[in-house]
Amino acid sequence: MMELSDVYIVGAGETKFGELWEKSLRELAVEAGLRAIENAGVFSRDVEVLYGSNSLAGIINGQENIGALLSDFSGIAENNIPAIRIEASTASGGAAVRQAYLAIKSGEYDLVMVGGVEKMTDVYGSEILDLTSSVLDREWEAFFGATPAALAAMSARKYMADFNVEKDAMAMISVNDHLNASKNPDAQYKNKIKLEQALSSTPVAEPLNLMDCSPVSDGAAAILVASENYVKKNKLEGVKIVSSADAQDYLAVHSRRSLYTLESARVASRKALERANIKIDDISFAEIHNSYSIYGLMELEDLGFAEKGKAKDLVYDDIKLDGRIPINPSGGLKAKGNPLGATGVGQFVEAYRQIKGKAGERQVKDSKYAMLHNMGGTGSMSVVHVVGGE
Ligand code: COA
Repeated sequence: MMELSDVYIVGAGETKFGELWEKSLRELAVEAGLRAIENAGVFSRDVEVLYGSNSLAGIINGQENIGALLSDFSGIAENNIPAIRIEASTASGGAAVRQAYLAIKSGEYDLVMVGGVEKMTDVYGSEILDLTSSVLDREWEAFFGATPAALAAMSARKYMADFNVEKDAMAMISVNDHLNASKNPDAQYKNKIKLEQALSSTPVAEPLNLMDCSPVSDGAAAILVASENYVKKNKLEGVKIVSSADAQDYLAVHSRRSLYTLESARVASRKALERANIKIDDISFAEIHNSYSIYGLMELEDLGFAEKGKAKDLVYDDIKLDGRIPINPSGGLKAKGNPLGATGVGQFVEAYRQIKGKAGERQVKDSKYAMLHNMGGTGSMSVVHVVGGE
């Protein structure tokens, strides 16, 4: 049987995340793509396929056919390579990287570009609430008034009641994100926040306040993924994607077995660790998908870092940059930002920089393996990757 190729990230780039009024969807995508190409030091003509990750451009910006848009405006349309949009709600980025991983592993391609982009601030606040609710079950959740925040709040209430957890524990996830983001030039919110500030911020959906919510963001991120052959031939120093796994759960939260178990995260994490042949304790740091602070606690548990109901024991010290298991060195979804289609690809940009020791002030010391968790909506899908290891 043909031996499967190892897969490496050989370049990464991203725009700033934030309210980027002056830049269009296509400009953001091209900026990130060019940065990744420049960072990799490869020729764009070597790219054999482009996977564009995006969640809501069709309804936010009225632009579909994102693959062709990216190829055209990156100036590679003349190469006639396939350019395909991958959509898996807010897990689009991780899903697109997984497609690149599989494409290279299979031997079909040697160099693949993954570009994620989202431009969310072109519509007003109330409208974006409705548009982001389209990642839920429109008929059985959103139609009855549920929004992503409302569903996260429901999970939070039940979780707090069942495990006797106070709001502080959730807020600490956000305090940590803001602290790390203050060291990330690409982050949307670089202000540090104190626990008291998080707890007294504007209520959004009880018990969640403004500081428990990821923001509405614009941004783009891109990586280049290559085969072992390509890396050797071009004498590149890549960061290995050690394993990749994805899993699905029921779309509607009310269909799930538990309001506070992210089954998709649990399954994908176990598979990713098994495929990497490592244990959760081997992970040096993780980028997790805390679109709402309660998900931060649930993910710490479902990914395997803590037992159910016990994530509160990690959030005061262990998750800090110099703690036992640093979480979201980039600033995470809460403070780096959450431009949906770009979010998961941005996690790879951070991991690439961290593992290469190029994360500046927010560098995690002696990091070997990173776990990246990108999640769709309220947990309907999870994509987990393990990166690093060499
Ligand atoms: N964290 C920190 N600050 C935030 C913020 C957040 N999540 N959201 C907005 N702000 C700030 C803005 O920068 C602005 O600050 P300024 O007055 O200094 O300029 C201020 O709060 C008001 O901003 P505005 O855009 O009017 O806020 P809003 O009330 O319309 O939106 C939320 C707040 C929480 C509703 C919005 O951020 C949101 O919907 N987040 C969730 C996004 C989402 O669901 N993503 C998908 C998950 S599946």
